[in-house]
Amino acid sequence: MRKNIVAGNWKMNKTFQEAEELIDQIVVGMEKNSLKCEVIACPPALYLEMASDYAEESRIHIGAQNVSEHEKGAFTGETAAPMLASVDIEYCIVGHSERRKYFHETNEQLAKKVDILLDYGIKPIFCCGEVLEEREKEIHFDVVKKQLEESLFHLNEDEFSNIVVAYEPVWAIGTGKTASPEQAQEMHAFIRSLIAEKYGTKTSDEVSILYGGSCNPGNAKTLFANKDVDGGLIGGASLKAEDFLKIASAFE
Ligand code: PGA
Repeated sequence: MRKNIVAGNWKMNKTFQEAEELIDQIVVGMEKNSLKCEVIACPPALYLEMASDYAEESRIHIGAQNVSEHEKGAFTGETAAPMLASVDIEYCIVGHSERRKYFHETNEQLAKKVDILLDYGIKPIFCCGEVLEEREKEIHFDVVKKQLEESLFHLNEDEFSNIVVAYEPVWAIGTGKTASPEQAQEMHAFIRSLIAEKYGTKTSDEVSILYGGSCNPGNAKTLFANKDVDGGLIGGASLKAEDFLKIASAFE
């Protein structure tokens, strides 16, 4: 069955103590509310083990923000999939637009990251989305299609069933400019139709497609009310437990 998911991408924020406090507040808040979604926190790599300990004792799930496409070796500063697996990390964001922009990650490289995560039993949260210029030129559907084709569509059906897709229009990330519910639904339906064409409707019905980009407690409900929007990947608003929990409560 298709899952509703709210995932928090903390990016490069919080000290260890602040991270522990935030995760604690989220876990306590989740105990008090019966949420109709799976909740994932993606803290910086340094805090994953601490966060993973919380996941053992509660309903929270933990994801990393990035992984190396290599399994091990002389890659200073990188984190490998077997390392994530060794501290029981369940998810990993792949292809966030900040990684594409600042670290020049390519679709081909992302395909390798997806593969190595699946090899180690970690579910990729695969980010796709167009920049403003591409939307203005009306090539946003082509851009997203290419991202999916080049980084995901080499997978077989079984492998693909472990993928979560996050549509994040780059012009909406951290800008306070959210895609309208209609724009989000339109792209999500398009993504689901591509998945249906490639893998069949059983797979496309089951894949969770999250929206990301200035999602907040004020707009989450109208975004999540769309039939192909199965939750959100939340940046800024995931850094305050109260806001994050409000977003996670936004499912009807
Ligand atoms: P934002 O970030 O919610 O701060 O716009 C979303 C993301 O980058 O995943």
